[in-house]
Amino acid sequence: MFLFFVLSLCTLSAHALDNGLALTPPMGWLHWERFRCETDCRQFPFDCISENLFKAMADKMASDGYLDAGYEYVIMDDCWLAMDRDSEGRLQADPDRFPSGIKALADYVHAKGLKFGIYEDYGTKTCAGYPGSLDHLEIDAKTFAEWGVDYLKMDGCNVTPDEAMEAGHLEMARYLNETGREIVFSCEFPLYRGDKVINSIMKFDKKLIVFQANYSVAIEACNLWRNYNDIEDSWVSVTNIVNHYKKNQDKYVAVAGPGHWNDPDMLIIGNFGLSLDQSKAQMTIWAIWAAPLIMSVDLRTIKPEFKEILLNKHAIKINQDPLGIQGHLQTTINDVDVWLKPISPNVGGEFSYAVGFVSNRDDGYPYRIEFTLRDFGLNNTAGYVLTDAFVSDETTVVKNTDKLEVFVNPSGAVLWHLVANEA
Ligand code: GLA
Repeated sequence: MFLFFVLSLCTLSAHALDNGLALTPPMGWLHWERFRCETDCRQFPFDCISENLFKAMADKMASDGYLDAGYEYVIMDDCWLAMDRDSEGRLQADPDRFPSGIKALADYVHAKGLKFGIYEDYGTKTCAGYPGSLDHLEIDAKTFAEWGVDYLKMDGCNVTPDEAMEAGHLEMARYLNETGREIVFSCEFPLYRGDKVINSIMKFDKKLIVFQANYSVAIEACNLWRNYNDIEDSWVSVTNIVNHYKKNQDKYVAVAGPGHWNDPDMLIIGNFGLSLDQSKAQMTIWAIWAAPLIMSVDLRTIKPEFKEILLNKHAIKINQDPLGIQGHLQTTINDVDVWLKPISPNVGGEFSYAVGFVSNRDDGYPYRIEFTLRDFGLNNTAGYVLTDAFVSDETTVVKNTDKLEVFVNPSGAVLWHLVANEA
């Protein structure tokens, strides 16, 4: 089966967006989940969407170990724009909240060794009602390049999600490439054309399927794409996303690979809604999925124990594995999901693996499960060097036939990094 994955990845990457970027899942920070569309800087100077917020986050990313760990993009989401384009039809930032302009902000971010990302919408307006890019794609691509933008998130509000929307994203990808600047292209059209729409229509008529996202276009146009609802600050929201990915696992695993990733949305670790165990669970699943690791948290006030999860070097290494294979749900044992991601090095034809145990249970004690690695299809007879990612850097060698056990906390996770041993 894994040979099939690898072969299909090779075929898909032949048609992938030809910008050579995001060969491993992008890592960074995006304001939306945590900071939303607060534009009142008089009342909320600390939290409003302004150049000060992004400078403060850039400072923290550079000084507090995030950049060193691989988080490199500082990305603005919706609500940075002025309500009108300038006299030459170019986008402009809100002058009160971004008095120095976007170019100066991008320069500031770059001076810290980071990269700068921006948000626009493919429709007439952004989801929050600011000017959209429809009929302005080329000039917007040029403007972003002139400003020094390294990453564009393109939303899909306020436009009919028909096939023309897909063609429009191919066009935008071309304009971005033509600028000559390296700009990661993050899309949302699969969400708008895909399963969300189908689900809401299916409530009324199970047979009526109106829109269906074309993932070949997503691969050709985009470096990453959203395919499900916005994440919110709760375990329920994380669980809804995970369930959606489980249901669509075969389709999603097949389309992910270097340069083109499924984006289950931001990491909400360190905010208000997830416990420490649930935060480990989100980090585990996102690592296994080869999902973009885009934090949305206040880096000025995050508690150290949550920061530690975001900076966990084993989880990041698994996520950033160069093979870029999206992991999958292998089995579920007494309501504990066992996720597998084949990773490098491949030793004599046997992959190394990340194994994530994620509990859907909410009863009392840490739940014990017993297994052998062979039960999960791990066949390296010389065994594996095991690191328990959230516990320590210590390693032990395990055979694939050893009887092993883990204890998984309610709505928590255990993440194992298993490097195939040489025979
Ligand atoms: C949509 C997107 C979110 C965010 C908001 C901004 O809901 O899916 O990620 O960008 O718009 O308005």
